[in-house]
Amino acid sequence: MTNPHSASPDTSDAPSLPEEAAKPFMRTIKSFVKRAGRMGSGQERAMAELGPQFLVPYQPSAINFEAVFAGAAGAEAPNDAKRPVVLEIGFGMGEATAQIALTLPGTNFLCCEVHEPGVGALLKRIGEHNIPNIRICNHDAVEVIDHMLPLASLDGVHIFFPDPWHKTKHNKRRLIQSPLVAKLAARLKPGGYLHAATDWQPYAEQILEVLSAEPKLKNRALPNHPELAGYAPKPHYRPLTKFENRGIKLGHGVWDVVFERV
Ligand SMILES: C[S@@+](CC[C@H](N)C(=O)[O-])C[C@H]1O[C@@H](n2cnc3c(N)ncnc32)[C@H](O)[C@@H]1O
Repeated sequence: MTNPHSASPDTSDAPSLPEEAAKPFMRTIKSFVKRAGRMGSGQERAMAELGPQFLVPYQPSAINFEAVFAGAAGAEAPNDAKRPVVLEIGFGMGEATAQIALTLPGTNFLCCEVHEPGVGALLKRIGEHNIPNIRICNHDAVEVIDHMLPLASLDGVHIFFPDPWHKTKHNKRRLIQSPLVAKLAARLKPGGYLHAATDWQPYAEQILEVLSAEPKLKNRALPNHPELAGYAPKPHYRPLTKFENRGIKLGHGVWDVVFERV
């Protein structure tokens, strides 16, 4: 029998996957290196107590969002299969993720992170603030996109402060490059959005260039904010985290980029 509160995916009537899924596994350059760092006792407890309900195990086949987000509308609300789904890549310790999920309770968030203490930290926040609309995949988001996410299935994608990989010789590790953007664009529904933010200007320029070159995307900011030269004003749902606030006080810039699927 299916547990309605389990995040375990049900693939019974899952739509077919795009061609990447059929390719054999190939070694690729990763956008992350696994950081050292142990989970605190609160994070470990959250992992044990809330993991079974909120973690989505990686699987090499399409997920069924309805099954994954069962219960996401809250205990009293009926589960609504039509709720929008936003993918977040690399949530770190989950501070912004938790705040956004509380700000947008009608949206479901599928959040990928490879750093286990971060996963524990977000589960802890889910427990503390009683957040029903987040599911976490503790896995490389690139593989999740390739193998688990059907075409035209997402309403949004959030990528906040991706690792900047400052040194030129490491730039190839940056997450936001044309092959990944093409995959994300293909998984967005028409009208769905891709929102990235960074505090590293050369990466902001790269993001703007790569997104502008993707034929399936158009820049949402250009018609209304030509004065921002392609960048967007910070959307209301993205909170100012402690880290970002500290940067702003030091005079550092932050660039938001928001494109949508045509
Ligand atoms: C600089 S941190 C930013 C974290 C968070 N978004 C914030 O604004 O504080 C980037 C995060 O992305 C994660 N990350 C990088 N590549 C990833 C990938 N391919 N899949 C999942 N997580 C990834 C890293 O582990 C790291 O925690």
